[in-house]
Amino acid sequence: MNAARGSLCLKNVTVAYQGIEALAEVSLTLKPGEAAALIGLSGSGKTTLLNTCNALIQPTNGAVSIDGKKFSEMSSQELRYARSRIGFIHQSLSLVPNLRVIQNVVSGRLGQRSFLGGARDLLFPSTNVVEKVYEVLDSVGIAEKIYERTDRLSGGQQQRVAIARALFQDPLILLADEPISSVDPVRAKATISLIREICKKKGLTLCVSLHNLDLAKTFFPRLIGLQDGRLIFDKATETVGANEINKLFNLPDGCIDFGPLTSKPSMLGKSLE
Ligand SMILES: Nc1ncnc2c1ncn2[C@@H]1O[C@H](COP(=O)(O)OP(=O)(O)O)[C@@H](O)[C@H]1O
Ligand SMILES: [Mg+2]
Repeated sequence: MNAARGSLCLKNVTVAYQGIEALAEVSLTLKPGEAAALIGLSGSGKTTLLNTCNALIQPTNGAVSIDGKKFSEMSSQELRYARSRIGFIHQSLSLVPNLRVIQNVVSGRLGQRSFLGGARDLLFPSTNVVEKVYEVLDSVGIAEKIYERTDRLSGGQQQRVAIARALFQDPLILLADEPISSVDPVRAKATISLIREICKKKGLTLCVSLHNLDLAKTFFPRLIGLQDGRLIFDKATETVGANEINKLFNLPDGCIDFGPLTSKPSMLGKSLE
């Protein structure tokens, strides 16, 4: 990929499982450095959409492109490279509990390394690799945990390891699927704030699925609403109305006061899933 910058484009993307559409004709574009939150009820297609953006799922119809090039038209080498520039933070974090933090972080870059190079980085990391892991752990505030066993860390610290692992692969795009589903509201806010700050600083394109509406509204300038696999809205956060939110979550009118960004959120800390 020449002049890789991190734009992501879905054009009429449909994903069907055994004939049932999990995503239906979804089109959207994220420009390099843009940040959006993906919201919708459980089963609305958020995970499917993020997995399609990461080429983990092939669309039944339509196309996904990165920097103007469709996944479906990439050679296997190009696809591997493109995927290596997309960091993914999974809902379950997908860390190996009995490995040290450094090993979990290094595993983020295995897609860019040969088998032997990757094995060496995991088992006998060079000074350069250790320095880079240290740097990335420092950026998420847990540099001192570098040699700790991952399962000895708290839930919040493990979340930071998962963020560090995604950052270690030097991504252009960061995707996160409900990254805060397993922590308390205070830690959830700190984690989303951290992800946003890092992406802003590094100019990464960011798309995060969230079930906490207030965090989506507070930290993201753009909201993408999904319902039954369909794109219901995709617009600037301050232009999303209460009626649109109520409709998205099948709530009666007047249930959510989705006022301007300066107003006090009425659903603070509550999740809609
Ligand atoms: N592997 C699968 N096989 C069959 N159906 C699936 C599979 N994955 C997801 N689905 C269905 O696709 C729809 C969207 O699911 P998902 O993308 O997980 O939504 P969300 O992340 O918003 O909860 C749901 O109806 C779900 O049951
Ligand atoms: Mg999901």
